[in-house]
Amino acid sequence: MSNVKKNYTEAELNNMNNDELAALGTQLDGVTVAFRKERFPVEGDPAEKRASANIIIWLVLSVLGGLAFLGVYLFWPWEYKSLGEDGLWWHTLYTPLLGITSFVAICALGIAIVQYVKRILPEEISVQRRHDGPSDEVDRRTLTALLNDSWKTSTLGRRTTIKGLLGGAGVLFGLTVIAPLGGTVRNPWKVRHDLDYSGDGTLWTSGWTLANEGVKLYLARDTSTIAEMHDGESGSHYSTKGLARLVRVRAEDLAAGGMETVFPLAEQDVNDGDKWSKDKEVYENHMHSIHGNRNAVMLIRLRHSDAQKAIEREGQEDFHYGDYYAYSKICTHIGCPTSLYEAQTNRILCPCHQSQFDALHYGKPVFGPAARALPQLPITVDEEGYLVAQGNFIEPVGPAFWERKS
Ligand code: FES
Repeated sequence: MSNVKKNYTEAELNNMNNDELAALGTQLDGVTVAFRKERFPVEGDPAEKRASANIIIWLVLSVLGGLAFLGVYLFWPWEYKSLGEDGLWWHTLYTPLLGITSFVAICALGIAIVQYVKRILPEEISVQRRHDGPSDEVDRRTLTALLNDSWKTSTLGRRTTIKGLLGGAGVLFGLTVIAPLGGTVRNPWKVRHDLDYSGDGTLWTSGWTLANEGVKLYLARDTSTIAEMHDGESGSHYSTKGLARLVRVRAEDLAAGGMETVFPLAEQDVNDGDKWSKDKEVYENHMHSIHGNRNAVMLIRLRHSDAQKAIEREGQEDFHYGDYYAYSKICTHIGCPTSLYEAQTNRILCPCHQSQFDALHYGKPVFGPAARALPQLPITVDEEGYLVAQGNFIEPVGPAFWERKS
């Protein structure tokens, strides 16, 4: 290294051709080429053609795999199908096909590259000494020359088929990585369907929003009831007819210091108590309510002595019914269920990142990363003694998003 001239004028560098600059670059970098042998020194060697054809096959396979992946991703029926529904078989193939096609695209591309390096590029063993410090002008110029030299020795420039296929396979490989991210892009303002137990598709609606349309909504508990076996004329079969997964909650159902998770239950879907009928089929709607993203609410009955100390938020003074308070169960940090209620301290705890909310202080956060109070659902009791929503939440439920004012 020491006897390599390091300082070159611009004119000297301009006078060197690419090979000379490349050779200088290896010297300056302390690289010694210990061994170098062209794979096919004679142009038109049949062995070279065979090697090239082999690589082309792998690249074509990779391109086909990439195209197949995109085709499956964009056009295969992916919507959820339940047992017995039409199209279930096709739907079950969706994920395996994504896996198989991306595997083919990525593996075939990898094999093609390895084959290219092993069968086309010159065999070479180089040794480089390590050195410190930044690169100077001569290093940068010689590095460019070396890269040019690598491009030349790779012979990719004259192998247009392989070059094109390699580019195509590379782009498709990139798309197989990027395209699935498209599924996470959603327009949060778009109303996707009529208002139902899941809201209307926007972030600020839920099953409780039905109250805005005058629907009477009961606070209902999940009984975990499942389909029952029935004997009929056509044989035995499971049926949910006459069953209620959700049942209405009465004020006296909850002991002081207790907490219960409740979901919205529209009046027309009630199938318990005096409204029970063996022929009513409401089970599916109950499940929709339970599965509604923002529907879960914690109904808390404070101990009476504690309730005397409760501080109401302005505008929410009449949201509670006596000692009963209903707070959204969806954490205002990033949306975990705030499942834990500690009756001694009246604190609600989110197990995800340990945010704590004060049930005596309108669900205000008192510890952890959550910055907003849990939205409070206005509740009361109807003439039959069942707990019902007095209206919708007055603010969006769950984590913050850009339109939120509160
Ligand atoms: S989601 Fe509740 S603390 Fe993070």
